[in-house]
This record gives sequence, structure tokens and C-alpha cells, in this order.
Amino acid sequence: MIRIQAVAVFWVVSLLAGLMLASGSLPAMEADSAASRQDIHLSPALMDLLRAEMREIAGGMQTISLSLATADWQSIQETSSKIRDSYIMKKKLTSVQKEELKHALPERFKHLDGAFHQRADKLADAAANRDPEAATFQYSRMIENCLNCHSLYAQSRFPGFSSEEQIQHEHH
Ligand code: HEC
Repeated sequence: MIRIQAVAVFWVVSLLAGLMLASGSLPAMEADSAASRQDIHLSPALMDLLRAEMREIAGGMQTISLSLATADWQSIQETSSKIRDSYIMKKKLTSVQKEELKHALPERFKHLDGAFHQRADKLADAAANRDPEAATFQYSRMIENCLNCHSLYAQSRFPGFSSEEQIQHEHH
């Protein structure tokens, strides 16, 4: 009896896993579950810093798209290097704030943030090599980094990332 139950549980779990994979998102998206999605909670001053950094990054990305279109390699190099170095953790923080960041940011967030800044470095390299194809590629991967992180950690700020179910729920 116990064995039959265990087998049944195994099949239900496999089936669910299969369904989740089948309904999976874009291959480029990070695999995630509802449980791993959460907003970032920081004290107001740190949240302001994070948002300011985001706005700076967003402005930089707009500059780069124009520079890509006009083969302005020097501008791409300068702007992507600035983005690469724009870690919130490297800002002037009090030791209390540093501690807070260390504990408040999930490991996955830190990982995504690191990957994003590395990508900015690769874009700077591509621009130094005056390689339009590589630069466009690295640029598009950076946009992917933005939406990967936002879909996991900024759903309240960007409700467009919520699942259809939630949207239907909100509209009823
Ligand atoms: C590692 C995670 C991460 C990455 C990578 C990331 N963001 Fe964000 N971003 C966030 C979080 C978290 C918020 C939401 C903060 C909040 O709750 O208001 C945010 C908010 C923003 C905002 C809103 C700022 C405001 O004033 O409210 C903009 C604009 C933005 N991001 C642009 C970008 C762009 C453009 C990229 C990529 C080029 C990017 N972000 C990459 C985590 C990330």
C-alpha cells in the first residue's frame, strides 16, 4: 500500500514537472518558480540608491543604443564602463548600510547583478574592437539581464511581468 502511494506521488510530481517545463518561458529566461519571485526590501535610503542606480543604467542603455546605431565606439566604451562600475555596493555607504545590503539582497540577486556588470565589460571590449556584431550581441544580452532580474525581483514595480492568472484576477 505504502509502495503504491509512493509510486502515485512520483507520477504526479513527474507530471507536474513535465507540465511546468512544457509551459516554460523563453529559453533565455532564467528558470524560476513563483516562490523565488519576491520584491527587494531595503530601507528607504538604500532603496533610493538602488533606484537612482537603475535610472542611471537606463539612461546609459539609451545612449548606447544610439551610439551603436551611429558606430560611436568611444561613447559605447565610456558608457558601458560606467555601467560596469556602477555597483550599488561600491557607493559611499555606512557600515550599517553595507551590512544591510549583504543580508537583504538574495544570493540570486547578487549573482544576476554580477552577471549584468560582467556583460557591460564585454560590451566595452566589443566597442574597443570596433565590432558591431559583437557589440549588438552583448547589448541585447544586457537587456535580457534587465528583464531576468526585474521579472524575479521587481514585479510590483513592473506589473507587466505578472502571470496571466494574476492579471485576470485583478480585472475581475
Ligand atoms: C540584479 C537585478 C537587476 C538588474 C540586472 C537590473 N535591474 Fe532594474 N531594477 C531592479 C529592481 C529590484 C528594481 C525595483 C526597485 C523597486 O522596487 O522600486 C529595479 C528598477 C528599475 C527601474 C525603476 C527605477 C525607479 O526609479 O523606480 C528602472 C528604470 C530600471 N530598473 C532599469 C533597468 C535596466 C534598463 C536594466 C538593464 C540594462 C536593469 N534595470 C537591470 C533590479 C535590477
